[in-house]
Amino acid sequence: MRPFALLPLLALVACQTETPPPPPAEPPAPPAPAEDPAAKALQARAAALFQPLPADPPAGTNELTDARIDLGRMLYFDTRLSKNHDVSCNSCHALDNWGVDGKPTSSGHKAQLGGRNSPTVYHASLHVAQFWDGRAKDVEEQAGGPMLNPVEMAMPDGATVTKTLQSIPGYAPLFAAAFPGVENPVSYENAAIAIGAFERKLMTPAPFDAFLGGKLDALSKEQQDGLAAFIDTGCTTCHSGVALGGQAYFKMGLVQPYETTDMGRFDVTKDEADKMVFKVPSLRNIEKTGPYLHDGKVATLDEAITLMGRHQLGKELDAAQVASIKAFLGSLTGDLPTAYIQAPTLPESGPETPKPDPS
Ligand code: HEC
Ligand code: HEC
Repeated sequence: MRPFALLPLLALVACQTETPPPPPAEPPAPPAPAEDPAAKALQARAAALFQPLPADPPAGTNELTDARIDLGRMLYFDTRLSKNHDVSCNSCHALDNWGVDGKPTSSGHKAQLGGRNSPTVYHASLHVAQFWDGRAKDVEEQAGGPMLNPVEMAMPDGATVTKTLQSIPGYAPLFAAAFPGVENPVSYENAAIAIGAFERKLMTPAPFDAFLGGKLDALSKEQQDGLAAFIDTGCTTCHSGVALGGQAYFKMGLVQPYETTDMGRFDVTKDEADKMVFKVPSLRNIEKTGPYLHDGKVATLDEAITLMGRHQLGKELDAAQVASIKAFLGSLTGDLPTAYIQAPTLPESGPETPKPDPS
């Protein structure tokens, strides 16, 4: 028995006298990712063509106070600004659906269809002008239009909008706070300004913004290749700047004619050279805002990219090029500002508030 009894002691002695085993080898620290020079060069090229979203939106002629923005949000969702109380801005520009209705052309009062696809309201304030043809100078001027458009919200005139707003008692203090010191602040004109203030903050920072800011791995390798293809193919001739569009007007069918009866900017300027000229749309969140083009006739993003190559650049892009560019465009999808776009509780109608009118 002795040897056995000694064993624990021996083991103990052994432990104390032998040099302790080396600690298990640490796995070698991964080398600090060497900055990929190709990605760095691409980022520099991109930074010369595009800008990340600003932290604070430009206010234009507006004042972006909380009171004004909160009022603008209510008005954006208020169907009483339409003749039959069934259409609001959010009907055609659903904020939880990337600011669009997803239809080729929108249906408004009495389900009448308009002639053009509804563009997104996200980032619209960053554009040089509003609408496909640029006929309104900014989001404030734009916002008055739909309320009076017979196929959209169909109110007969601005005075009727003003009367309706004045008939809703809860709006009086909110307009007063949004337009301090202004006499008779409850008006159609101020409603449009408040909606504009709300719209100016509708922005969705995306991975591409992080990439432009220097975070090179914000874009996958595939997306980086797509960005290079987007630049090399010539898309940036028209789609550049902070919104990748929104800054210039170009003919649809610049190189190869595109079939449309819409005269675009010609209707605004009556200049022959403006026939079929449209504002270059922004490409932010583009994978979410189909169907595409002013006529909404293009269902998929693949097809839109193919048509752009053909009609605007005279290039037949192959499937791999289209897929590559599409991968890059995916990096323009940002995060919806879920708290900011929460539908607000609206003030109740008063005894004088007009009733819905389906006529
Ligand atoms: C019935 C559907 C409908 C309603 C309601 C509607 N819109 Fe639009 N909106 C459109 C369509 C269609 C266009 C494009 C028309 C054009 O370019 O001629 C448009 C264009 C715009 C644009 C221009 C965006 C750009 O990129 O040029 C903005 C901003 C906008 N609407 C905001 C609003 C606001 C604010 C309201 C509520 C006061 C509103 N819309 C109500 C369908 C609608
Ligand atoms: C010569 C200017 C020009 C070039 C180059 C150009 N585009 Fe466009 N792009 C436009 C215009 C203008 C429109 C709007 C046309 C219309 O609606 O009829 C547009 C529309 C689009 C749309 C649809 C946007 C929407 O909201 O419906 C996508 C997507 C697009 N372009 C991607 C591209 C890509 C990708 C390239 C490169 C292969 C490219 N564009 C090259 C001017 C251009």
